[in-house]
Amino acid sequence: MVKTPYRVGLVGATGIGVRRPEPPPPPFKDELMTSHAAALALLPNAELVAVCDLVPGLLEDFKAVWADEFPGAATYTDYREMLARERLDILAVATSDHRHADIVVDGAASGVKGIMCEKPLATTLEDADRMIRACAARAVPIHVNHTRRWNPTLHKVRDEVRAGLIGPLSAIFAYHGGPRAMLFRNGTHIIDAVCFFAESEPAQAFARLQDGYEGWDRYKGDGGKLPENDPSATGMVLFRNGIRAVYNSSKETSSVSNGIHLMGPAGEIRLNLEGHSALVVTEHGDPAEPVTRTLYPVQYQLQALPAAYAELIGVMENGGEGVSPATEARKTLQILLGFLKSQQEGGRLVDVPG
Ligand SMILES: NC(=O)c1ccc[n+]([C@@H]2O[C@H](COP(=O)([O-])OP(=O)(O)OC[C@H]3O[C@@H](n4cnc5c(N)ncnc54)[C@H](O)[C@@H]3O)[C@@H](O)[C@H]2O)c1
Repeated sequence: MVKTPYRVGLVGATGIGVRRPEPPPPPFKDELMTSHAAALALLPNAELVAVCDLVPGLLEDFKAVWADEFPGAATYTDYREMLARERLDILAVATSDHRHADIVVDGAASGVKGIMCEKPLATTLEDADRMIRACAARAVPIHVNHTRRWNPTLHKVRDEVRAGLIGPLSAIFAYHGGPRAMLFRNGTHIIDAVCFFAESEPAQAFARLQDGYEGWDRYKGDGGKLPENDPSATGMVLFRNGIRAVYNSSKETSSVSNGIHLMGPAGEIRLNLEGHSALVVTEHGDPAEPVTRTLYPVQYQLQALPAAYAELIGVMENGGEGVSPATEARKTLQILLGFLKSQQEGGRLVDVPG
């Protein structure tokens, strides 16, 4: 018997919410599914039934652009009305960074079975905690779209680290360049990847923000369109398991080096977070003659956002935990806020906010 697809409602109708699939470069045929609507269009067991945004023009654009795939989708300017009317199974939240919390809390209370929330989880720990509490109270899985967590290369590398390829992981260097090397808005992806590999709680941090942002003590959530609303930063994180991570972002450097180096006593693994392979450099007894080889992941049919939705549905049906729950995204927010706290205290080592 064919199951009725899960009913999905989306709040936030900008590009990340509703952009059409992007054409691939030749010779590939598969389009790139870089929005929530595009990811859902790919999945037979989910259907986008409603979209909400404060801006009516964006809803008109959505209807025009997706008429072929989601002809019956309803549109709303009030997400509470959408929650009340649509009997949603899944709520997708793709609003501005500081406007995730109320929608997630109300969504969990409305009876949805799963929530996909954009990154960063929130801009304050108070918001993050009320989102996590509201979902836990109803046993609603909430996954955060730190998209690299559904990149097979990261999993291949973490499996190798866990298997001891470079010995116990002790240091992580994360590089983040280009004009959009903003701490909260995009740095959240890189710092989340650091947490993915560190597999521990962040304990302490210090940081120095981009020059000119000395008094900057709060991210307002509006970093998306204007890089000047969100500085880059250089900082260090100490994790409870002893791993040290250094993060350097700079809008004045190229993005060619964007990525992470994982280091242990037997060597290191270098990976580009957008890439499809990683470089392993190991000593084999002689540090002067390192051995270099490439690690290739298994290529799964679903990656990034389509994999994120497929996984959320799997957790809704079978229980368990996904790879990017809100509790993991909260660690990244602790680090981002720890960097701000350190900046306010002259760059000294601080406990990350709890
Ligand atoms: N995972 C990724 O790779 C990725 C890429 C881009 C953006 N994002 C994230 O997606 C989110 C949206 O990004 P953006 O640049 O489009 O943000 P944005 O500030 O432009 O807001 C998106 C939309 O949300 C709508 N909105 C805000 N509050 C609302 C409410 N209460 N009810 C209904 N609609 C509301 C706004 O009208 C706007 O059209 C952000 O959290 C951003 O960080 C993630």
